[in-house]
Amino acid sequence: MRSFRDFMEERVRHYYTSGGPKIGPEGDFFTAPELDRSFGRAVAEFLLPFLREFERPTLLEIGAGRGLMARDILEYIKERDRDLFGRTTYLICEISESLKRVQEKVLEGFPVLWTEELVPIEGVILSNEFFDTLPVHVVKEGRELHVGDSGEEVWIDIRDPRIKEFLRRMGYEDIDQRIEVCLDCIDFLRKIAESLIRGYHLLIDYGYTSEEITRFPEGTVLGYKKHKVRDDIYSGQMDLSAHVNFSALVEYGKDFGLETVFLQTQREFLTGIPGFLEELQGLSFDGSPEAVERLSRMKTLLISMGDRFKVLFQRKGL
Ligand SMILES: C[S@@+](CC[C@H](N)C(=O)[O-])C[C@H]1O[C@@H](n2cnc3c(N)ncnc32)[C@H](O)[C@@H]1O
Repeated sequence: MRSFRDFMEERVRHYYTSGGPKIGPEGDFFTAPELDRSFGRAVAEFLLPFLREFERPTLLEIGAGRGLMARDILEYIKERDRDLFGRTTYLICEISESLKRVQEKVLEGFPVLWTEELVPIEGVILSNEFFDTLPVHVVKEGRELHVGDSGEEVWIDIRDPRIKEFLRRMGYEDIDQRIEVCLDCIDFLRKIAESLIRGYHLLIDYGYTSEEITRFPEGTVLGYKKHKVRDDIYSGQMDLSAHVNFSALVEYGKDFGLETVFLQTQREFLTGIPGFLEELQGLSFDGSPEAVERLSRMKTLLISMGDRFKVLFQRKGL
């Protein structure tokens, strides 16, 4: 028997380090950069003024999937500001060897390097749909979920003092439902803060705030396979994920010197970026099949993903 957290960690690690397509039409799920290039371009447009603050900025992306966001960001910077492009380094921290090989192909000719771990940088650390892969402890009424050898659920009194402290600090002690405690998210946030000598942290993912937690009485852990949500998470190979608790990242970020600049929905974020809505409008006047297809994908970024996904922007040492 092991904790649900250990079970999830093992499953996710195995999922991402084994071969076979994961993301995109052949894989198990789509992400925003896979939907349309306007996503990465909007992120780049947002980041331009912040990158210009540095002599030699580094963009460090964690969990870059097939490398499409990196490609769209770098292409955009190259188009808009050649001088900045010449001074920028893009680093990728990626656990999956097979995805890394895809990234190397997609990003050929761009100034990209790969790193095994987070190294000290000045610039921006960013991720899209990475934090949701980190394992969570699942607790309810003072007990923690464990998984038995035959995949049965077993509840045992919470022993880890960090979980108790988390519930107290976040004000969740009296909430009578499944609550997910992502200590790994907090540990990763600490690593990000330590790696940022001076700069910004941009985190995009699906998730909730403390005010929204009661919308998920059964928790948020999901299994994905071939673009379908699966209930049988204890059997078979599939991608497991949990929604990100953004309130916890705002709160614990303070301990690590990360000041939250804003937390917005993806819809608010994208519609606030110069050019995004104009591009959407332009496509709606263009009747070509490609334009209609892109219009529908951009609408997905704003509508079905727009409120489920959030954008957290933090800064350190500035
Ligand atoms: C859900 S995918 C998102 C991919 C990409 N950001 C996108 O939006 O298409 C999660 C990514 O995180 C990577 N990953 C998972 N755990 C990781 C870890 N501990 N360190 C670095 N990358 C990791 C996976 O291999 C994958 O590239």
